[in-house]
Amino acid sequence: MPGDADRKRAELEERLKFFSDIGADFIFKPEAKARKTGAPAVPTIPAAIAPPVPPDKSTAALDLGLIRDQILACRKCRLAAGRTQAVPGEGNPAAELMFVGEGPGRDEDLQGRPFVGRAGQLLTKIIEAMKLERSRVFIANMVKCRPPDNRVPQRDEIDFCTPFLVAQIAAIRPKILVSLGKVATDFFVPHAFGGMTSIRGRFYDWNGIPVMPTFHPSYLIRNEGNREIKKMVWDDMKQVLAHLGRT
Ligand code: URA
Repeated sequence: MPGDADRKRAELEERLKFFSDIGADFIFKPEAKARKTGAPAVPTIPAAIAPPVPPDKSTAALDLGLIRDQILACRKCRLAAGRTQAVPGEGNPAAELMFVGEGPGRDEDLQGRPFVGRAGQLLTKIIEAMKLERSRVFIANMVKCRPPDNRVPQRDEIDFCTPFLVAQIAAIRPKILVSLGKVATDFFVPHAFGGMTSIRGRFYDWNGIPVMPTFHPSYLIRNEGNREIKKMVWDDMKQVLAHLGRT
């Protein structure tokens, strides 16, 4: 049986590998502050969350195709006027894990694919650091068209667009949803109080599906040198992996 020191070393090595995989270029000092202040450990999965009923995957791809067609043709809100093309989302119709971001940026608008710009490249690295493949998860956004100048989507735009997201989730029935950033988290966890730092780190229930809120990759990029944020994201992803039985 590995001793305490061995386990701590292995945890540190694993975290360092995650940081290096996602492109962090600093030396990490382990949890000095948290230990000194006796900060509470990150809570684990509440026992009350029951695993979702196994979905019928056979119709998921068909449903996703129909939803995609509707998204591409949608002109319900002002965002349609400014788009090059809508960005429905992409991935595995049988995905166990689904990531939900805020909305397409410039690169996504040009390519019609979610998370392909700088934040997307970081998300891809995070997925790969989890020993998963991008093509095996599903990646979608709250709004499917790029808000002008990448502004935050407005309430009515979210209201018009999220029925598409809900339909995508209903088709896929993932085992876990990861909400990236505040806009997606506000949708899945409307009752949560406080900033992302206090909301993330535990699962919430959304219609029987556990949701793990975490920081948006853009926020990680904006706070490049902040190792605490990277550590929190990795801790969140480790909980996701544990829930998927992958640790
Ligand atoms: N940010 C998002 O929230 N979604 C994308 O698709 C790209 C950047």
